[in-house]
Amino acid sequence: MESLTTNLPKYYNEASYDELSQRILDAKEKLGDKLLILAHHYQKDEVVKFADETGDSLQLAQLAQLNKVAEHIVFCGVHFMAETADILTEDNQKVILPDLSAGCTMADMVDDDELEIAWNMLTEKFGDLLPVTYINSTASVKAFVGTHGGSTVTSSNAENIITWALNQGKRVFFMPDQHLGRNVCFDLGIPLDQMATWDYIDHELNSDGDLDDCKIILWNGFCSVHQQFITEHVKYMRDTYPEVNIIVHSECCREVVALSDSHGSTNKILNSVKNSPDGSYWAIGTDNNLVGRIIARYPDKHVFSLNPNSCPCSSMNRIELPHLAWAIDNILNCDVKNVITVDEKISENAVMALEKMLSLS
Ligand code: 13P
Ligand code: SF4
Repeated sequence: MESLTTNLPKYYNEASYDELSQRILDAKEKLGDKLLILAHHYQKDEVVKFADETGDSLQLAQLAQLNKVAEHIVFCGVHFMAETADILTEDNQKVILPDLSAGCTMADMVDDDELEIAWNMLTEKFGDLLPVTYINSTASVKAFVGTHGGSTVTSSNAENIITWALNQGKRVFFMPDQHLGRNVCFDLGIPLDQMATWDYIDHELNSDGDLDDCKIILWNGFCSVHQQFITEHVKYMRDTYPEVNIIVHSECCREVVALSDSHGSTNKILNSVKNSPDGSYWAIGTDNNLVGRIIARYPDKHVFSLNPNSCPCSSMNRIELPHLAWAIDNILNCDVKNVITVDEKISENAVMALEKMLSLS
């Protein structure tokens, strides 16, 4: 398969950090508000430093939708986020992903063919379903959901939107993150044996209960970054720091979430630490780029990674200073590269699922 990795001209790999930083600052000055740099919380410090705005997936989608001035939006995040920004922005606004290989392995766990197989088998068994997709999915999956009356969710609004979905009188089919779906439904009072899991490799439906009673079907996708947090990490932290608050991303597995004090989006994690008293103890289960920044930002609090040895999101990490400098230089040189353009028909249908979410958020 052809590699999507954006290979840079030699200069960008050899230039010093200071030189590249200065180039970016100069370009930002020249382009003014015609350029908007958005960065997800998982980006490295060297990228976040130049962002006009940082945020979680919901905030970044809202920021992209609100901005009507920027002609170029350099999106420092992963592919599905840049696609979402393209769908929500005007036709004259270009969304640029500095490295096209910055995908999301979880989003890639649902493709159109697999979705069609699942939908046909599941609707044959259960009748009509309401599809809901985590924003970590391709534009094409969002389009499918939009055409079937469903909605997207992010980790910060999943509870509201899944509640809405469950009240529509149909079984809900949730993709692709089984953990987010399971954790949120559990909080909403749905017993685990009323949740089924769709195994997209073996095309099998599994449940600990009677399938006729299941209220939600969860695609068995997962995030490889959040799989790195296990119950032993939680137990170790509790034994070492009895007063610790343990907060994890909702993409962590049920067992880890059950032993933690709270779970939620990257923004909820940030705000929880920010709003806590000095001297409080925190152990955080999410990408270590973000955790490292929280540790540095709050020296008066005791903040730890729940697993300091976990690898950060390798896709997010593909966007680094040289790629950012290159992407912005291309704008200045009127030779814009790595523009993310979602097909018009897909965009029209995906926007229905996104608008539903934004109206319920
Ligand atoms: P947030 O919406 O919480 O930022 O999460 C996005 C993501 O991809 C987490 O892995
Ligand atoms: Fe995807 Fe996981 Fe990376 Fe988030 S952390 S972008 S879910 S692979």
